[in-house]
Amino acid sequence: MLQSKRWKKIFFFGLFSAICFALLSLAAIQERNLDVPYVPTPEEVVEAMLAMAEVSKDDVLYDLGCGDGRIVITAAKMYGSRGIGIDIDPQRIKECHENARKAGVESRVQFFQADLFETDFSKASVVTLYLLTEINRRLRPKFLEELNPGTRIVSHDFNMGKWRADKDILIEDEWEVHSVYLWIVPANVTGTWTWSMPTGSGNKNFTLNLEQSFQYLNGEAFENKVSLPVTISGGQIIGNTLSFTVERKQGRSSERLIFEGNVLGHSIVGTVKTEGHENTRRWEAKRDPSTRLPLDSPVKDFYTLNQ
Ligand SMILES: C[S@@+](CC[C@H](N)C(=O)[O-])C[C@H]1O[C@@H](n2cnc3c(N)ncnc32)[C@H](O)[C@@H]1O
Repeated sequence: MLQSKRWKKIFFFGLFSAICFALLSLAAIQERNLDVPYVPTPEEVVEAMLAMAEVSKDDVLYDLGCGDGRIVITAAKMYGSRGIGIDIDPQRIKECHENARKAGVESRVQFFQADLFETDFSKASVVTLYLLTEINRRLRPKFLEELNPGTRIVSHDFNMGKWRADKDILIEDEWEVHSVYLWIVPANVTGTWTWSMPTGSGNKNFTLNLEQSFQYLNGEAFENKVSLPVTISGGQIIGNTLSFTVERKQGRSSERLIFEGNVLGHSIVGTVKTEGHENTRRWEAKRDPSTRLPLDSPVKDFYTLNQ
């Protein structure tokens, strides 16, 4: 009788401990504040992401929400790149360290337990993501303001709202079809640019007001500030390289000037040529720094989340 009472006590104590453990684990998971649950990217998709970003040994790759570290580790193994993985879950970071050791790439990779929203990833030349469109959208202003122009961002399955990908592909494995998106961070060229340039009718001063929607450019050009504005066409910016065409009316005829240049802060250095002609002339423009505008706005509400 006494024996069975003892076993009952042990049984209930054990059950109580198990319930406490389950509740604590649940609280710990909630405390970790996962914005996205852990789902690993299949290896063939990892390889397609790295190929799409054209990763090389000179790259510094950041995987935001790195899971078991597979993207950072595969990049180091296949291309010799350096990599940093960020995950909020300590269990994942433990796995990353073990996997890096097994793959023999410990000297090229680092893993940190941190919240990706509070991480400085401005030194990245490649950023990889397997998050959610909503999280990508929240990160978007930070990508556009803090990453160097030309940085490649690759995302598994989730896009970036209104910022259209520069390239996207589908990868089919035995279970499902995966999308992979690539964006190249554009330089911010918004604002008022001026330059002077010889034309058929003498030296002229030009003013260009540029508006930018991610990698696409719109704007108006003025000659000597007095002529009617001329709309630019085909304007785009890929990393630091911009190009656009200005159509100049000269009496009844018109000529199309093709501008190409590299942006460095508030200067552009490049060339201009008349469409249909081979000769190029040097072109150098300066921006009034006070006219530069941010490329994106932070998410404030449901409406902006879906933009
Ligand atoms: C879908 S998994 C992707 C894992 C890995 N990047 C891959 O592609 O295999 C998302 C990861 O993000 C992590 N995560 C979720 N919210 C996070 C946050 N706020 N900061 C950092 N990591 C987070 C999760 O722990 C999970 O490992």
